[in-house]
Amino acid sequence: MTKHPIKIAPSILSADFGRLAEEVAAVTEAGADWIHLDIMDGHFVPNLTIGPMVVKAVRQATRLPLDVHLMIESPERCLRAFAEAGADILTVHVEACVHLHRVAHQIRELGEGLGRRISAAVSLNPATSLSTLDVILPDVDLVLVMSVNPGFGGQSFIESTLEKIRELRHWITELGLPTQIEVDGGVTVKNAPAIVQAGADILVAGNTVFTSPDYRKTIAELRGASPAGKKGGKGRSMPPP
Ligand code: DX5
Ligand code: ZN
Repeated sequence: MTKHPIKIAPSILSADFGRLAEEVAAVTEAGADWIHLDIMDGHFVPNLTIGPMVVKAVRQATRLPLDVHLMIESPERCLRAFAEAGADILTVHVEACVHLHRVAHQIRELGEGLGRRISAAVSLNPATSLSTLDVILPDVDLVLVMSVNPGFGGQSFIESTLEKIRELRHWITELGLPTQIEVDGGVTVKNAPAIVQAGADILVAGNTVFTSPDYRKTIAELRGASPAGKKGGKGRSMPPP
């Protein structure tokens, strides 16, 4: 099986919103793989951020896939708007979604209706058990494991997440699924190797990237956490995205 390097998804939550298009272009140029957009509704999380209009503006500023993380109650109300705005990955929280199976299928169907692929993803808060994925895992393309309590950038990584990632990776491997694991919150150049070692395929990094003086260097250092990215490293086998 082909070995795939770790993907880096800068979260624009820590970007300079006054120069958003410029910031998105800068991380695109600096080697980012995806652009991560945090959508917050002031209910599911105690913060408010952006909606489909800003996603649409970001769509104009980059050719990279848009990874849209919906931290909103009843996300099914807004899926179409975010799909039409240009989302390539739509992530809903298991804690915010009663009819998760329906929502996962709605996401993929919206993509088909628009003539492109939209990946369906689910996210788990730090206190939410992996067992909530028991039935839904085969129906999603990606699991976003929160390693901070969602709502704000720049928080510290919750260490117990590492064991959760390991368990999820083991479970996905056992079932022979192509599901990808993305980790979000408190990712730094220092802890990235342990997160990748635990089984992550994609690292979200807001504060680490956007507060650094050199986006290219920081993204490369985060990606260097990949066993495949290290000279002489062995690299985990991964399914294609
Ligand atoms: C937190 C968001 C994250 C956040 C990560 O609610 O989902 O995507 O931007 O930020 P850092 O990398 O700064 O912890
Ligand atoms: Zn996020």
